[in-house]
Amino acid sequence: MSTSFFLTLLFFSLCFIVTFSHALNNGFSVELIHRDSLKSPLYQAIENKYQRVVSAARRSINFANHFNKNSLTNTPRSTLIPDKGEYLMTYSIGTPPFKLYGIIDTGSDLVWFQCQPCKKCYNQTTPMFKPSESSSYKNIPCSAKLCSNCNDQNNCQYYISYEDGSHSQGDISMETLTLESTTGVPISFPKTVVGCATNNTMSFQGASSGIVGLGGGPDSQDLIAQLGSLIDGKFSYCLLPLFLESNTTSKLNFGDVAVVSGDGVVSTPIAKNYPPVFYILTLEAFSLGNKRVEFGGSLRGEDEGNIFIDSGTTYTILPSDVYANLESGMLELVKLERVDDPNHTLNLCYSITSDGYDFPLITTHFKDADVKLHSISTFVPIAEDIVCFAFIPSDRTDPIFGNLAQQNLLVGYDLKKMMVSFKPMDCTKV
Ligand SMILES: *[C@@H]1O[C@H](CO)[C@@H](O)[C@H](O)[C@H]1NC(C)=O
Ligand SMILES: *[C@@H]1O[C@H](CO)[C@@H](O)[C@H](O)[C@H]1NC(C)=O
Ligand SMILES: *[C@@H]1O[C@H](CO)[C@@H](O)[C@H](O)[C@H]1NC(C)=O
Ligand SMILES: *[C@@H]1O[C@H](CO)[C@@H](O)[C@H](O)[C@H]1NC(C)=O
Repeated sequence: MSTSFFLTLLFFSLCFIVTFSHALNNGFSVELIHRDSLKSPLYQAIENKYQRVVSAARRSINFANHFNKNSLTNTPRSTLIPDKGEYLMTYSIGTPPFKLYGIIDTGSDLVWFQCQPCKKCYNQTTPMFKPSESSSYKNIPCSAKLCSNCNDQNNCQYYISYEDGSHSQGDISMETLTLESTTGVPISFPKTVVGCATNNTMSFQGASSGIVGLGGGPDSQDLIAQLGSLIDGKFSYCLLPLFLESNTTSKLNFGDVAVVSGDGVVSTPIAKNYPPVFYILTLEAFSLGNKRVEFGGSLRGEDEGNIFIDSGTTYTILPSDVYANLESGMLELVKLERVDDPNHTLNLCYSITSDGYDFPLITTHFKDADVKLHSISTFVPIAEDIVCFAFIPSDRTDPIFGNLAQQNLLVGYDLKKMMVSFKPMDCTKV
């Protein structure tokens, strides 16, 4: 589809939605900005790259501690607090479009952002959206079918609480959501159901205006469901290596361009007996060298599903017995000097003097899908000459396949087929 064709379509706003879905049948991509990338408004020039890893480890650990084991039953829509935002997405809201930075969260489904006037907002360093200045903003009345909570001004309300005690509340509204595609063409979704937040107590502050939930789920407020017929329940991302100090960004793809296909693709089912907002996979084992480390186990005693796949958590969090077996396998194979993590956050660290050391490949055996993890996904540099194993043991939380492990993989979600696919890829080249 050519750009000019698309732009012409934009003028025929009467038949906008209809022609739109046709125009989009190749799908589209938007930029994903890592909070530590030079493009990120969260980038802190004063932190060097090692301090940033240590900070990320601390964020993962704090998150893991908050993400307690009752989460699945208590708050089905909003459990995975996205680790204070590892990846941000820019999007615009309203008419004229107002630019916002949302934290990508594959563990919740609503798009919400702070709105003025705000009763209680966290300290947002970027400009805050004012509904009164947008001509397309509409409150949803309590009589609407999708409305289950009401306030005394007859406005429909949402309320989301997170495991760490954070919560967000505000009006459920309809607004035009515009994504900036990487080809430079803005793609607008009129009448998107969003949350206009006016009463928040969140554990983060800074540039992000709120959260962009990419979780699955049939609800009318679920973003993926709302983009539904246009993207057909498909999205994918390719996460750039954390340590690339560059202005390159990761991509978040929607629709047909999000299909992961070709050589080397493997696919594993998303477990079904859980709230659809969560992406839970079945991990059977790891292997390294000729050792196989069984993973097994289940969440809530279900037949399938034992690990969350999450774009918002940095490290991979494993039950402590699995972690111990994996670590001992690594210890047997690696002939480097073991050292302590000076920051006491990670368990297994080595002193390395040259950049080129290749750690043993770890294969993750998801059901029907073997995914190979190279050094870049399994070890992180935490000081000039120290690298540490990027897995964390915890029995206080459910297992999570974090975003370091997903680097340089194209990870695709297909909510119609209920599958997640992986393909090895150099994410700087897509
Ligand atoms: C990690 O430890 C090093 C050496 O002790 C220290 O200089 C640095 O500030 C620590 N980083 C963080 C983020 O705590
Ligand atoms: C909010 O952020 C601004 C700008 O960074 C800062 O000056 C102010 O002290 C912060 N307020 C709070 C309560 O953290
Ligand atoms: C804000 O949220 C808190 C926590 O849910 C609630 O107790 C409080 O009443 C809310 N405030 C307003 C003004 O709605
Ligand atoms: C990134 O972009 C900024 C501003 O455009 C520029 O000053 C900087 O040199 C770039 N950095 C790299 C590593 O390309």
